[in-house]
Amino acid sequence: MTDKTPPASPPPPGPDGAPPRPSLPRIALVGANGYGLHHRRNLEPRRRRGEIAFVGMCDTAEVHEDEQAPVGDIPVFDDYRKLLDETDPDVVIIATPPPTHLPIASDAMRRGSDVYLEKPPVANLEEYRRLYEVMTETGRNVQVGFQALGSHAFNALRDAIEAGRLGRVEAVGVAGSWRRPDSYYRRSPWAGKREANGVLIADGALANPFAHASQEAIALAGDWPLAGPIELERLRTRERIEVDDTAVWRGTNLNGVRITVAVTVCGDRKLEGDVYVRGTEGEAWFEYPTDRLLLPGETEPKQYGRTDLLDNLLAHRQRGVGLISGLRRAKTFTGVLETVLNDPIPRLVDAASLERVEDDTVTVLKGADQAVEDAARQGRLFSELGLSWA
Ligand SMILES: NC(=O)c1ccc[n+]([C@@H]2O[C@H](COP(=O)([O-])OP(=O)(O)OC[C@H]3O[C@@H](n4cnc5c(N)ncnc54)[C@H](O)[C@@H]3O)[C@@H](O)[C@H]2O)c1
Repeated sequence: MTDKTPPASPPPPGPDGAPPRPSLPRIALVGANGYGLHHRRNLEPRRRRGEIAFVGMCDTAEVHEDEQAPVGDIPVFDDYRKLLDETDPDVVIIATPPPTHLPIASDAMRRGSDVYLEKPPVANLEEYRRLYEVMTETGRNVQVGFQALGSHAFNALRDAIEAGRLGRVEAVGVAGSWRRPDSYYRRSPWAGKREANGVLIADGALANPFAHASQEAIALAGDWPLAGPIELERLRTRERIEVDDTAVWRGTNLNGVRITVAVTVCGDRKLEGDVYVRGTEGEAWFEYPTDRLLLPGETEPKQYGRTDLLDNLLAHRQRGVGLISGLRRAKTFTGVLETVLNDPIPRLVDAASLERVEDDTVTVLKGADQAVEDAARQGRLFSELGLSWA
């Protein structure tokens, strides 16, 4: 803890005798361990290049040192209100557990900061409404940390759809198959929990690691709201958790596009996050975590780059560049998340369908990798695929 903020970054360098740059954007981080460490590593090179001032970070736990992102002379706080009062940030990055997002983001905007808010921004549509209200009242910006929306492959795919290369889009499906060891559910106090102190917790394969899969699908299907409720099937393979580790949801948007998102963290074969966009004239394949895209008529996937969402937020503030992942874009996702979180504790899969592998035990659900691919490609729920465990 510090009482007064010392300068956290070098003064703005003027290239070779040029006049000094205008004042640097002042960035603060709330939630400095966990995923916050990724943000520290993202900020560090920008700070060294003299592009930003990293004015402070806050965590209720002791902040971990890191070689790539040393704490150095960056002021550290254990109360975010104190951080806001003492460092006067232009942008506050919030990487704390989801139930804390609404109060921290609201306080930051009321004190005049823009916000980079980790996904999921909030857990339900009522919280979304309240956050949106603060955003419009204060005139501040909220960039939501759905970083895959910054993919240039995403833009190329939308361009191809708009140019008619797929014909009329009928379906978007996403398949994700990862592996997580049992220790993954001990990574933080809220891991694997459905609820704590009466608050629903956004963990589980759909709500947490594969939140991006749902947001990508909704956005690629045209950013339309869904027409009616979603169909949802959630399963768990571990007795000790209360959330899904294998799940599928399906819905149709107001533009008539069917969306199916099928994911597992109990997969034998890895599928990074395969998006299939099927139109009347052709199908595109897009691996959203890696920015690879295969359009109809092409034989090899092309590798694309990505715009970092913090850079985009800063460009938005400085030059009015459009915000890629503004809060409004996360509204449909938030409705899906609300349904997922309100679903009861998922059914436990029979042990006969499971294999325990590796030292740090990984649970593999037999056939889950193929099931998520089939569900995504065919627009089916697990129960429609003739699987013994579904
Ligand atoms: N964009 C992505 O790909 C991605 C990846 C992982 C996590 N996330 C998101 O990042 C957020 C944090 O996830 P995590 O797994 O790092 O969680 P975590 O439980 O590890 O918490 C992160 C840090 O926040 C601190 N913290 C908790 N409450 C706080 C408070 N009130 N004030 C200050 N610090 C506080 C904790 O001590 C911890 O160090 C979540 O919203 C999560 O969904 C995003």
